[in-house]
This record gives sequence, structure tokens and C-alpha cells, in this order.
Amino acid sequence: MRTQVAIIGAGPSGLLLSQLLHLNGIDTVVLERRTADYVLGRIRAGVLEQGMVELLREAGAGDRMDREALIHDGTDICFNGTRHRIDFKGLTGGKVVTVYGQTEVTRDLMEARAAMDGQLVYEAADVAIHELDTDRPRLRYRKDGAEHEVRCDYVVGCDGFHGISRRTIPDTVLRTYERVYPFGWMGLLSATPPVSEELIYVNHDRGFALCSMRSASRSRYYVQCPADDKVDDWSDDRFWAELIARLPPDAAETIVTGASLEKTIAPLRSFVAEPMRYQRLFLAGDSAHIVPPTGAKGLNLAASDIHYLSRALIDFYKSGSTEGIDTYSDTCLARVWKAERFSWWMTMLLHRFPEASDFDRKIQNAELEYLMSSEVAMASLAENYVGLPY
Ligand code: APR
Ligand code: PHB
Repeated sequence: MRTQVAIIGAGPSGLLLSQLLHLNGIDTVVLERRTADYVLGRIRAGVLEQGMVELLREAGAGDRMDREALIHDGTDICFNGTRHRIDFKGLTGGKVVTVYGQTEVTRDLMEARAAMDGQLVYEAADVAIHELDTDRPRLRYRKDGAEHEVRCDYVVGCDGFHGISRRTIPDTVLRTYERVYPFGWMGLLSATPPVSEELIYVNHDRGFALCSMRSASRSRYYVQCPADDKVDDWSDDRFWAELIARLPPDAAETIVTGASLEKTIAPLRSFVAEPMRYQRLFLAGDSAHIVPPTGAKGLNLAASDIHYLSRALIDFYKSGSTEGIDTYSDTCLARVWKAERFSWWMTMLLHRFPEASDFDRKIQNAELEYLMSSEVAMASLAENYVGLPY
């Protein structure tokens, strides 16, 4: 097989890139290790920045989002049992966020790809990158017992944190930066109306909690839990009791509970790999960086990578200019580190750290008190939450 851009991984990054390139006359092949159903079964975040919303529209995959998504003008932050509102719209000159699940984003992109007869190979096993140092790199993979090969101009690693692309870059070139947090998030999805119109982020002595949603009839809740807890440790009853214990009184009284549709424990990690390009390989999305979910930046960072990369490749194929390709890594990383900083800061602000001293807790409380007493501090949170410019 011969293509222009070979993409590894059919998560949101790979699908979005493939769709944007195809719309600009660039041929792509996407190789995905799992089945389409498996990819759709992963429940992840659901808060989109305006940049991602516009990119989905540009990709021709924004119609259902425009009909069904919820627009949020602000969020609540609760500490010492009291709710405080951060007014994104008022503090950022009119900017808002869009609540629409990553599962739905993925489904819409898959349908858009299928409608254009996009070349997507599911269940591609043992994908390996060869001859990266030539101008005709190749991908090899196995499918249904047979060996296959794709020749291309460029390879894009959209294969997530556990993918093979990043590991193809030699140790002498790749530098990684990491912080692992000493807790996880136990998440539960239920067919119940959300407890509040906007999200509630809770700092509580028993640990962090978050009330989020997917629609007017579907809620997504999280509680901070020990890093080594297993889903089986958390019956639905235990989850609801723990969540309610952490909520402010009005929310605790009115929350509607119900059977879980899905439960997962997510570890919390900050991670960045540099550079994001090596020879003819680009990294995009989770293959290059991970953020803790506090602040909902993971999917949005993947979108900004794809924004820069799609423009770089479109420019190259139209004009022969390699400027966007040459600056891709530095341009992405400048924005990535700002989102890393914000999600690290939100994580530090809102969680109970097992090793925290009394001093650390007093400082955390002072930071929350300061935040809610200062319009500029709230504006800084709002500016980052709605998304820094591309
Ligand atoms: N070969 C082929 N495909 C692979 C391989 C491999 N060796 N390894 C992983 N993949 C596939 C995975 O099965 C997955 O479908 O790559 C895809 C990566 O998708 P995601 O993990 O969703 O990553 P990405 O597309 O970058 O999406 C951005 O940011 O914070 C997160 O929740 C957010 O998942 C979202 C991500
Ligand atoms: C979610 O809805 O899953 C969600 C929302 C906000 C976050 C993290 C997760 O910060």
C-alpha cells in the first residue's frame, strides 16, 4: 500500500487528523490495534474548548455536537462545604466551554471518515515503523494472519501513551518529564440527571470529588481514591455514599443516584516527551503528553496538536514549504507545557495528598480563599479552563 501520511492509532487524534488531511486532498491510512467497538467503549473526558469545537466543525464532524452539546458559562468550586462560582463567560470576555463526551466525538469522527471512504484498518497487530531515516518510511503490521506494508512520506504517532511510536525515537534523542500523583479517580457513569447545571469541583477532607455530565439525563461523577484501589472495591452503594459525603449540603440532598453504566479507575499522571518530531515521525496527543484529568485538558491538547500538524502538512503538500513541519514540535510544546502547568495546579489545589503536612493544607486553603477573593485570580483560572489561544 502507498499513502502520503500513515497514521498509527484511531483515537480522537488520529481520526481528526485523517479527516482534516483528506478534506485537503491528502491521502492517509490509519492503523488501529483495537476494534471500532473497543475504541468507542472507552469512557473519557467530556469538556471541549472552543478551538476543538471549531476543528470538529472544520472536519465536517460537528453537526451532532452543535445540536446536542451543552454550553457551560462557568463552573463551581467547593471547599470547606461552600460552593463558589467561576464565571468563565464574564471573566474571559464571552468565552465558554462545550460539554460533549469524547465517546461522541469519536463516534462522529468515525462516521465522517466512513462517509468519505477513509482508509482505516482496525485490528492491525504488531505495527512497526521502518526506515524513518529515509524519505520513504514504511509501516509493517499483521492482520488476519497476513503481513502488510504501507509506504508513506510521513508517519504520525497518534497511538496514545502506551503506543509504539514514541518508543521508536532513540533514547539519545527523546527526553521525558513525568510526575505520578499518589491517588486515582474512581469514575461512575449513570443514567441520572446531573445534580447541578454546571460542573462542581470539590475539595474535601475525605478527598477530591467532581460532578460532571454527558447530557441532561446522563451524569459522570468522580471521587479521589487510593492509587492501588480496584473497581471491585467500589460497589455502586459505596461510591454514592462516598460522593455524597464529599458534596456541599444542597447537592448532597438533591443528587439522584442510580445503577452504574460504567465504572473505571484512572491513575493521575503528568508526562511530556520532547521533541514531538523525529525525522519523518510526528507524535500527537497522548503519545506525546499526558495530563491529570483535573481541568479537562487531555482531549483539548490532542486537538491543538492536530491543529498545528494538519496545517503544517497541508502547507507542505500545497507549497512544498517545510516551515510548519520544522516548527511543529516547538510550537506544540509551548502550549503543551502551559496546559501541563494548569492541570498540575488544579490537581494540587483540589486533592488530598497523603504526604501533606498541616502547613501544606493551610497553604492549599489559603490558595482557595485567595482565588475566590480575587477577580484576577479567578480570571486566570477561567482563561486557562476555556483554553489558551492556538
Ligand atoms: N498500533 C496501533 N494502534 C495503537 C497502538 C499500536 N501499537 N497502540 C495504541 N493504539 C491505539 C489505541 O488502541 C487507541 O485507539 O491508538 C489509539 C490512541 O487513542 P487515545 O489513547 O484516545 O489517544 P489520542 O487519540 O491522542 O486522544 C487524546 O487525550 O486525555 C486524553 O482522554 C483523552 O484519550 C484522549 C486523548
Ligand atoms: C468528565 O466529564 O469526565 C470530566 C470533566 C471535567 C474534568 C475531568 C473529567 O476536569
